[in-house]
Parts: sequence; structure tokens; C-alpha cells
Amino acid sequence: MSDLNSLLENAQTAFGQVSSPAELENAKAQFLGKTGKLTELMKGMAALSVDEKKTRGAAINVIKQQVEAALNARRQAMAEGDLQTQLKAEALDVSLPGRSRDIGGLHPISLAWERIELIFSSMGFDVADGPEIEEDWFSFTALNNPPNHPARSMQDTFYVDMQGEDGLALNLRPHTSPMQIRYAQAHVKKYAGHAAMPEIRVIAPGRTYRVDSDATHSPMFHQIEGLWLGENVSFKDLKVTFLNFCKAFFETDDLTLRFRPSYFPFTEPSAEIDIAFNTGPLAGRWLEVAGSGQVHPKVVRNMGLDHETVIGFAFGSGIDRLAMLRYGVNDLRQFFDGNVRFLGQFR
Ligand code: DAH
Repeated sequence: MSDLNSLLENAQTAFGQVSSPAELENAKAQFLGKTGKLTELMKGMAALSVDEKKTRGAAINVIKQQVEAALNARRQAMAEGDLQTQLKAEALDVSLPGRSRDIGGLHPISLAWERIELIFSSMGFDVADGPEIEEDWFSFTALNNPPNHPARSMQDTFYVDMQGEDGLALNLRPHTSPMQIRYAQAHVKKYAGHAAMPEIRVIAPGRTYRVDSDATHSPMFHQIEGLWLGENVSFKDLKVTFLNFCKAFFETDDLTLRFRPSYFPFTEPSAEIDIAFNTGPLAGRWLEVAGSGQVHPKVVRNMGLDHETVIGFAFGSGIDRLAMLRYGVNDLRQFFDGNVRFLGQFR
């Protein structure tokens, strides 16, 4: 029976050498297929006697079963191997921390901006918005700051290589003050033909630009303009309005406000507004928070209003500065660095 044993050995070797299921099927055909070696052996029994057939047939069957067993074992081993490779390839490290998705938050400047709008709205102020690329007339001339006047260097800005309707270069607005003119003109137009015109009470927050860059100045910064014009609006109203705003914005009643004489072309008289906290880390230091003044009669006329009957005040304040004071930030540039670890603190 050694031919049978060597056949079994050959089959085991052949099955062991294959490296894919298709090769295994080929090897199987060589032994168990219609023309396979075992089938040939069966056919070869035809010439044997009945007794010989019995013993030979039984022996062939035993070998056939062993060949089939070897085949199945190899099949299983290959499937197992495939699974292991797949598992390795698709390995998932469940001990890795997941990727969390942070909930975004508003930028501290936006938070301050929204807060300012909310407070002034509650005091009856409208909120207005206007262009950042501005005409010379709105940024300067209408605000009593004519071409070649030295006061123009107070708001040294960027110019755009394009002309406005007046033939002068357009500028990136250096302050929100042009909004005084734009808003008042629109107001006058809106109420033209009406028996009476309501007071003008507005704030205009927005982006502004200047050739300036250090720890407390950025070439792009934010301002809020305020304007209140009526028949009898005085410095007293300015003081009460601004003091109430500061108390609400900084969430403390424990602060003092003072006017310090100053100069702006568009106001007369003009004053810087300083505040001092009576308690807390900044206690006792005067902090400049706004420029202000009584709107100049020429500016009132440029708005299309009668400077004999209309009087009031304007102010301009830096939103970034207010945010720095509120949040205790000492370098303005941090607001614009885009560092999420810094910005994430203000949610
Ligand atoms: N526009 C001024 C600036 O940016 C600030 C300012 C001062 C605005 C006085 C005003 C004002 O409305 O009345 O330097």
C-alpha cells in the first residue's frame, strides 16, 4: 500500500504549498477531480478479483478520507490566515482617546461688540452699519477736516488706488465717525416732508483702519461711534449716557468718569472720556475710553440739519480697548493671533 501512502503524502505537500484558494482548488482537482489520482486508482480496480476489490477499495477510501481531511484542514487554515491579515490591516486601537468636536464660541471682540449693542439699544439707540471703504468727504471733509488740514494726520489711514465721486482717493475708514454723516443724512431724507423729525440717537460699531501697530494698536481695529442730536441734548446727557454704559458694560457701579479737554475737528468743545475703577486690579488708574464732544455746527450743517436748532454730542470709543479692560487682556495683538487656547477662554 505504499503507493497510497505516498499519494497521501504528495497531496499533503501539494496542499501545503498553495498560497491562494484558487491554487488549492487546482491541487484538489489533481487528487480528487474526475481525472485526479484517486479517481484513476478507483478506475484501475476494474481488473481485480472481488476479494481484492474489497481490500483495495477500503484502503483507497481510507486514503481518500485522509486526503479530504488534509484539504479541509488547509482550507480552514487559509481562511483563518486571511482573517488574521484582515484583522491586522484593519486594526482599531480602542484605547486611543476619541476626537472630540469642540463647540465653537464667539470671539471676545464679538462678545464685547454684542454687549455694547445690547446696552445702547436698551437706552433707545439705533444700531447702524456702513462702508469700510469710504470717500474722502465722509471720512474727513464733512467732519470739518478739510484737505491739507494738519488734523488729518490724527487719523492717518490707508488709501485705496481708486477714486470716489469727488475725484479723491478712497480710504479705509480710519474711524467710525463718517457714520455720523451717513446716518444723519439718511435720517433727514427719511423724515423729509414729515411735520416733525425724531431725535437722532444711534451707535455705529465697525471695523476701522490706521497705519499703527504695537501692543495697544492694530492696523485693523474696532470702534463704536455714538451720536445723539436733538433740540436740547447736552454734555450732561453725554455724561449720564456714557457712565451708564460703562457701569453696564463692566458690570460695576464702582467707577468714576471724567472729561479731559481735547481737540477733534468735528466737535467743539471736545473731551476725552476717562474712567477709573474704585476697586479691582485696575483701581485708581485713569483709563482713556473715548473721544467725545459737542457736534460742531459745521458738521451739523453737513448732515443737512439746522445748526441753530439742532444740538448734541458724539463719541467714539475703541471696542478692542473696552474688551481688553473688561477681560484683563494686556496685549491687543492676542485678539488677532487666532490662538484657540487664548480665544477659548472667553466663551
Ligand atoms: N473719531 C475719533 C477718533 O477716531 C474719535 C471721536 C472723537 C469720535 C470725538 C467722536 C468724537 O464722535 O466726538 O480718533
